[in-house]
Amino acid sequence: MEGYRIRGGRPLEGEVEISGAKNAALPLLAASVLTRGENTFSSVPEISDVDSMVKILKGLGCSVKKEKETVTVDASNMSECSIPEEFMKEMRSSVFLAGALLARCGEAVITSPGGCDIGRRPIDIHIKGLESMGARMEKRDGRMIIKGPLLKGTKIRLKYPSVGATENIMLAATGAEGVTVIENSAREPEIEDLQKYINRCGGRISGAGTGRIEIEGGKRLTGCSHRIMGDRIEAGTYMFMALGTGGCIYLKNTEPSHMEYPVRFLKGGGWDIFCRENTITAKGRGSLRGCSFSTAPYPGFPTDLHPQTAAFLAVRGRDCEIEENIFEKRFKYAKELIKMGADIEISGKKVIIGDNKILCGREVEAEDLRGGAALIMAGLMAEGTTTVGNTRYIKRGYSRLEEKIRLLGGEITEYVQREP
Ligand code: EPZ
Repeated sequence: MEGYRIRGGRPLEGEVEISGAKNAALPLLAASVLTRGENTFSSVPEISDVDSMVKILKGLGCSVKKEKETVTVDASNMSECSIPEEFMKEMRSSVFLAGALLARCGEAVITSPGGCDIGRRPIDIHIKGLESMGARMEKRDGRMIIKGPLLKGTKIRLKYPSVGATENIMLAATGAEGVTVIENSAREPEIEDLQKYINRCGGRISGAGTGRIEIEGGKRLTGCSHRIMGDRIEAGTYMFMALGTGGCIYLKNTEPSHMEYPVRFLKGGGWDIFCRENTITAKGRGSLRGCSFSTAPYPGFPTDLHPQTAAFLAVRGRDCEIEENIFEKRFKYAKELIKMGADIEISGKKVIIGDNKILCGREVEAEDLRGGAALIMAGLMAEGTTTVGNTRYIKRGYSRLEEKIRLLGGEITEYVQREP
């Protein structure tokens, strides 16, 4: 088993260049199958989910080259429309390819998508949206065959602003005849990045970032160059990490307008947060008492920062609570923080943080990406040494984690334990 060994108790101070956003890179790479000609994506995060998506694109017959943070994709000679099952299981984002493959090939073959086990994660909203454009689903041997040779633009109202469903329908709609309108669409900034890319390739999409997106189908899309937006969740993770250890941090490649929620509550707790174009400086001392947060779709409090916020509050907060409204299995990190001495309990959909505590280093296990990040934060804030097992979850979404933490003065090394 592989893990990180962390020596805590030192303030993290310094500068971090935030990487490209995982949750923008994945739908953008999926969208490249809509184009003919070469795409050059820069600022692509070096994470295992990107490696999985690259494998899928190659499996579909695209020519793909990956050199550090630059990925080029040419889908001109794509030959396949079905995603190999072993790749589907690796991550949820493979489901985005359904819409893109429908637009490109008129059909898509997918299996139930994988991803972090943070909840049931159904895809009914995706399916309903694709069906309303004329696609037909057929389940066979555990696979879903989606046929839609003649998709028609239509008006679709999502029952919930699902990020993935919004992106999937956007991609399918580029291949539909006529205009598609998505109402009650997700508003995440990653969706705006997707719109920017598709329009740069010759598409015509408007409204991303609002609750209503309009896609004009039938445009022939050519490859283009696109720099992926900074990862707001990674930025929030490092901001909590530094302040939680009593340090300070200068975040580069970070759009402050994407971080309004965490910045607002840290400022409210007395920390000094200075936002400038594409950078944030966070420092000072503060404490949060009697605060409550509820996760919600953007621009609400991001569920992807819930575990990291709980770890931060375990040390820097008192009598606070977080209500998780998006993923019902988001709480697995809590029992590991309790092992380290955190005064935390789970009550229904709520995490309740009592007194702030000095955490003690322990052996803990990551069970999903963001929970794993929270445990690394806890190890850096704790006294003594912490080991965080199952680094594979963390490598799905954090690029060059050890290097960035060491640059901030943190002590972290990866180890591999021989199986007995
Ligand atoms: C995206 O997941 C992100 N992943 C998640 O980030 C993020 O937590 C989530 O959006 C919410 O912001 C990527 O972008 C690759 P949803 P997605 O569809 O698209 C329910 C991370 O750690 N739902 O908005 O799967 C679903 O069960 C990951 O980076 C349906 O009921 O999220 C959940 O309760 C984790 N039916 C809620 O909607 C559907 O058809 C939010 O899901 C689809 C979703």
